[in-house]
Amino acid sequence: MIRLETERDIEAVRQLNCRAFGHETEAKLVDRLREGGLVIVSLVAEQWGEIVGHILFSRLEVAGDAFPAASLGPMAVLPERQRQGIGSALIQEGLRRCRNTGIAVVLVVGHAGYYPRFGFSAAAGKRYRSPYSKLGDAWMALELAPLDLAAPAEVQYPEPWSQLD
Ligand SMILES: CC(C)(COP(=O)(O)OP(=O)(O)OC[C@H]1O[C@@H](n2cnc3c(N)ncnc32)[C@H](O)[C@@H]1OP(=O)(O)O)[C@@H](O)C(=O)NCCC(=O)NCCS
Repeated sequence: MIRLETERDIEAVRQLNCRAFGHETEAKLVDRLREGGLVIVSLVAEQWGEIVGHILFSRLEVAGDAFPAASLGPMAVLPERQRQGIGSALIQEGLRRCRNTGIAVVLVVGHAGYYPRFGFSAAAGKRYRSPYSKLGDAWMALELAPLDLAAPAEVQYPEPWSQLD
């Protein structure tokens, strides 16, 4: 079951992120994005009462806030539950909710072999510039609305992301 995260899921989500990534960095990032009021959509995957997956979409400033934009991630699935489609279900439901909330573009830094199946592309990523642009094909975008950009739009990541640098 994919559903919105509630207050009671927060500790389980923290532990899930620590286990999936093998360190605390992403768990702390999720906490700080929540504390900063930057969350757009935070979803959990629940299986038999256990939180087995999580995805966060949070606010980004693009082109001086010319249109609403979201960052996808962090996202994580328990190691023993990976490759069963849970991650895909979280992304699809998250994108559906982003679209419904009027988000115009979603940006992601991630594996070039995974996100294109959901419509993300490095070609669209070239229309946006951020400190992650230099990562090449790992920097991807998915436009959910038609966007007329004369030049690459500048993307500002809010302060909580600085701990990842
Ligand atoms: C990335 C992650 C969330 C995917 O969740 P999942 O439930 O295993 O994903 P799905 O079952 O929907 O999809 C599995 C597919 O994704 C691919 N995949 C998953 N992670 C991948 C990665 N890091 N690089 C390339 N491909 C990846 C698998 O090879 C598989 O491909 P296939 O369908 O062609 O066999 C999960 O692997 C995870 O938690 N990883 C550790 C944390 C992480 O790296 N998060 C992403 C960065 S924020």
